[in-house]
Amino acid sequence: MSEFVKLIVGGKTYDIPVISGSEGEKAIDITELRKKTGLITFDPGFANTGSCQSSVTFMDGEKGVLRYRGIPIEDLASNSTFIETSYLLINGRLPKRKELNRMSVLLNDASLVHEDMQTFFQKFPRASHPMGILSSMVTALRSFYPELQILEEEINITVMRLLSKIRTLAAMSYKISRGHKVIYPRPDLCYCGNFLNMMFDNPVKPYTLKGDLIRALNVFWILHADHEQNCSTTAVRVVGSGRVNLYAAISAGIAALWGPLHGGANQAVIEMLSRIVKSGESVSGIIEKAKDKKQSFRLMGFGHRVYKTYDPRALILKGQCDNLLTKLNLSDPLLDVARKIEEAALKDDYFIEHHLYPNVDFYSGILLRTMGIPTNMFTVMFAIGRMPGWISQWMESIDDPRWKLCRPRQIYIGSNVQPYIPIDER
Ligand code: ACO
Repeated sequence: MSEFVKLIVGGKTYDIPVISGSEGEKAIDITELRKKTGLITFDPGFANTGSCQSSVTFMDGEKGVLRYRGIPIEDLASNSTFIETSYLLINGRLPKRKELNRMSVLLNDASLVHEDMQTFFQKFPRASHPMGILSSMVTALRSFYPELQILEEEINITVMRLLSKIRTLAAMSYKISRGHKVIYPRPDLCYCGNFLNMMFDNPVKPYTLKGDLIRALNVFWILHADHEQNCSTTAVRVVGSGRVNLYAAISAGIAALWGPLHGGANQAVIEMLSRIVKSGESVSGIIEKAKDKKQSFRLMGFGHRVYKTYDPRALILKGQCDNLLTKLNLSDPLLDVARKIEEAALKDDYFIEHHLYPNVDFYSGILLRTMGIPTNMFTVMFAIGRMPGWISQWMESIDDPRWKLCRPRQIYIGSNVQPYIPIDER
């Protein structure tokens, strides 16, 4: 039976339809609101706004649940690979062995980038942030790989190119920033192994791939692969709604992810923990500073727009950090401080009342550090992981007959009509 909410405007009652999702969430469908009532809704930051119907990812922020295409994140992190999870997100189901092998072949075929792109890299100032470089290079891919005539072929090839080349571009940007020789992708290595090899192999010190690092990287990227309508995914969908090419839409996602309130938080967490270790500042002092509204400081890696409990990805990453450090027989003072901060925050009234728990970025940087990834590459690592999510959400949007050009309205609060005053009379 159809459900409605009643809205009374100027004494007149309107029945506004309620729509439901497959997990029971409900939304008031306001698509006809302005036409019928002359009103719009006001929701800064879109905290109460469902922008689309989606079958990619389900999350329950109150219960700490995350599923890709219905499969719990915990199961994927334990059993899947990043490439299998990418297939799942993009195609809506797990691949058969033959399909997975075919995907690996396609990714290998697409792994090289045009040699002329290296010229671009060389011209960026050495101190450039890799996220700025990555975003520019992804847009530039369109110029190097012009549009194909058949739409389906164009989409399939572009998807494989993006998944494969982002990893090559990221490793290239790191090598060039260090003034080192670029290492090419190898067809005999898996996706994650290939990336680690391109990052760390060099002509005078060959890199030995370790199974534990490859597994940890798979888990890291699986956990970052999608997160429904977050800031960067929304950027991809919004920019894509203007019907730009997929490279440009993804590039917008990379730019959005760069911010410290979003994907850039993983870098900010390590910078914060390093400062604490270096300065010897007490954990209680940090907690007090984070609560003090007179200071702009926030506890990085804590809090989330949707999760009001422990982010399930943070829980898995915390375990991965312990596991990898033990296997490699290493220790990290930053992990010790992180654990102490978490312990103190989870007992603190302010954090409890504000529902502030560790998010995905709190432990991810420690895992990346253990792999040898430099801090300024952390957000790039997030971007590589998010690629299948951005792609699947974009594909869903272009197939959705209800997805329109994104163009919100506003409540104007500026001056009323004013005369133009000639410059000599002002
Ligand atoms: N430290 C201290 N206080 C915080 C924190 C924090 N990390 N996060 C939120 N708060 C407080 C705010 O001061 C505010 O308090 P008030 O209501 O008393 O004024 C309240 O909690 C709500 O904060 P908002 O910023 O309104 O919540 P929002 O949902 O917009 O923010 C966000 C979510 C941006 C993630 C926020 O928690 C934050 O800034 N966290 C730190 C940055 C971070 O870790 N970002 C990564 C998020 S995960 C991701 O994007 C991949």
